[in-house]
Amino acid sequence: MAPDLDPVVQGRVASVEEAARGVRPSDVEHVALVVPVGSVAATPGWLTAAERARRDALRDPRDRAAYLAAHALVRSCAARLLGASASGLRIVQECPTCGSGTHGRPAVDGHEVVAVSLSHTRTHVAAVAARLATVAAGAAGVLEVGVDVEDVQPVPDSAFSDRELRWLAQQPDRARAATTLWARKEALVKVGVVDLGRVGSLDVLDAAAHAPGDRVDDCAVLPLEVSPPAGHGTVVAAWAWRVRPPRPPARSSDDDAASWRRTDRRPGA
Ligand SMILES: CC(C)(COP(=O)(O)OP(=O)(O)OC[C@H]1O[C@@H](n2cnc3c(N)ncnc32)[C@H](O)[C@@H]1OP(=O)(O)O)[C@@H](O)C(=O)NCCC(=O)NCCS
Ligand SMILES: [Zn+2]
Repeated sequence: MAPDLDPVVQGRVASVEEAARGVRPSDVEHVALVVPVGSVAATPGWLTAAERARRDALRDPRDRAAYLAAHALVRSCAARLLGASASGLRIVQECPTCGSGTHGRPAVDGHEVVAVSLSHTRTHVAAVAARLATVAAGAAGVLEVGVDVEDVQPVPDSAFSDRELRWLAQQPDRARAATTLWARKEALVKVGVVDLGRVGSLDVLDAAAHAPGDRVDDCAVLPLEVSPPAGHGTVVAAWAWRVRPPRPPARSSDDDAASWRRTDRRPGA
């Protein structure tokens, strides 16, 4: 039976869903960076115990350095957005696959309005922090972001749709073009729109321009410039965001609906 919702809550749900469809890129305040590993100043003291344990388990010193740099850079991006100190921010993670709290999608503890993502290669790290600007905050849904940096390298055909393969066949630098598409796909995996196992059927080319566009379904997908510019053919990066309408109240369980109503009324939620 449908839960007995009060009209104020029902009204807010309707406006939320409307606003989520109309969010413009300018409504998404963000700090997004791709930098060389060595350019990030950080000490392991910034990391939480869970992060330190994962970093310490990495055998190759390049992987440990990249891990620390990426986890520091994501703090720097969030700190710039929040006007806070990077070393004072805690990154927490949750794996949507196994539910573990020691790896998976990152978030800034205590700052749920800020969406973050990070990525590392052995030479470069990328991070993004974003939130909905005041104009859209409270009206739109949940902002989700993903970022990916990749070494330029050949990517297997199985990663691409037939249309993407036709486009790639026309590109003078196929490895670079393929990595560009792959980075967009991984950014979208991190946003949560597709599983890694299904990215081959996710077409990230713009339908009209027949080239990488700035929209895939309800996600914005954007290139990220490496700073300072890396040599041609070194790394490419992309980031993506979407606003997911908040989950409507469960219709099958009064308990779920009651807890959703409590969440919705939290100050600042
Ligand atoms: C997310 C994923 C695409 C990362 O790709 P990658 O190119 O190997 O690595 P990147 O350096 O670009 O990104 C790694 C970062 O993505 C983040 N991440 C991991 N899983 C994520 C997820 N499901 N959603 C969003 N971000 C995720 C983490 O911050 C991770 O960095 P960390 O390990 O230092 O904390 C890959 O881990 C994946 O597909 N995961 C899904 C499969 C899965 O859930 N595996 C674990 C099962 S227990
Ligand atoms: Zn897991």
